[in-house]
Amino acid sequence: MPFYHKLGKIPHKRHTIFRKPDGSLYYEQLFGTIGFDGMSSNLYHEHRPTQVKEIKGSYDVKPKIAIENNLKSYRLKGFQVTPHPDYLKSRKPVLTNADCDIILASPQSSTDDYFYKNSDADELLFIHKGSGKLRTHLGNLDFKYGDYLLIPRGTIYKLDFDDENNRLFIVESRRPIYTPKRYRNWFGQLLEHSPFCERDLRQPYELETNDEKGDFLIKIKKKGEIFDMVYATHPFDVVGYDGYNYPYAFSIHDFEPITGRIHQPPPVHQTFETDAFVVCSFCPRKYDYHPESIPAPYSHSNIDSDEVLYYVDGDFMSRNDIEAGHISLHPAGIPHGPHPGAVERSIGQVETEELAVMVDTFKPLMLTEDAMEIADESYHKSWLEDGHDH
Ligand SMILES: [Fe+2]
Repeated sequence: MPFYHKLGKIPHKRHTIFRKPDGSLYYEQLFGTIGFDGMSSNLYHEHRPTQVKEIKGSYDVKPKIAIENNLKSYRLKGFQVTPHPDYLKSRKPVLTNADCDIILASPQSSTDDYFYKNSDADELLFIHKGSGKLRTHLGNLDFKYGDYLLIPRGTIYKLDFDDENNRLFIVESRRPIYTPKRYRNWFGQLLEHSPFCERDLRQPYELETNDEKGDFLIKIKKKGEIFDMVYATHPFDVVGYDGYNYPYAFSIHDFEPITGRIHQPPPVHQTFETDAFVVCSFCPRKYDYHPESIPAPYSHSNIDSDEVLYYVDGDFMSRNDIEAGHISLHPAGIPHGPHPGAVERSIGQVETEELAVMVDTFKPLMLTEDAMEIADESYHKSWLEDGHDH
């Protein structure tokens, strides 16, 4: 997270005596990333955060690769992913490479029986359908349709959903996820030309402090396996913390689109960056206002990156037959562009209601067995001019 946050009670100085009302000490923990070089927070626990009681075993949740080397454009019908009562079991990785997993999930109920922690990856959850509360050991965040939830690696969390109709688009990133560097000054503050600013980023506001002993199951993901670890104290037992490392929320509806007289390139939609992929938000906006502008994009050769678009809402102008919940995959190595008819159709249009999330990865993505179950095998031929130019 790019700025400082403080929640609960903390002592005046780091690494000094901090006593509970009964005279015993709180337990300090530095919760940091990238050794001691990345962002960190300083936490104060009721109990030692190290009290492992039992390791019950582990099981494999690695994506099962169906197509390792892909040069075919695909459409995946995301809403065909079967809902599941359990959050972790509902997560279906559809695209994967060494840096990230792209996951669709339709969990029907809250995580009541366990806590979850991803020790390898930052998780970016995009809430397509559903609302509720993200509860973490660093405080809670309310979420609803259109929210990105950025959960740094190591965060222990639960998801409370308001009802059973939930659709999530998730990126698990083994590279840290940041806001784009070019929008920040040398202190990290977001600059005036950034499409969002600190005011749009929601910080945890509610700290749950449970002074409780017992059996607390944390499902910990490490290297593609989930370990069932039982701890002797409640994982949400922090009385206070401060620092830069904590989960936060950002609504796609708070992204202020950058527009111009002629077509603006995809980087104007960029919302997050890593050194392995970028995430962009395509939001409702006015179209280009040069009198002869063509609002539809031009074909482009993404020779160096796979392009994944997740369609959220509105008409997606450059595509025919695309619905909410669909994913298009345009692999590196071949150009892609608007469908037949889309360019003509766009001329004279003044605005768009399209809403989509894009992930461009610098390494090629592999398709999983879960992807093949919802894949449209004929999408790659949808640019042929017979039968598609309405
Ligand atoms: Fe593209």
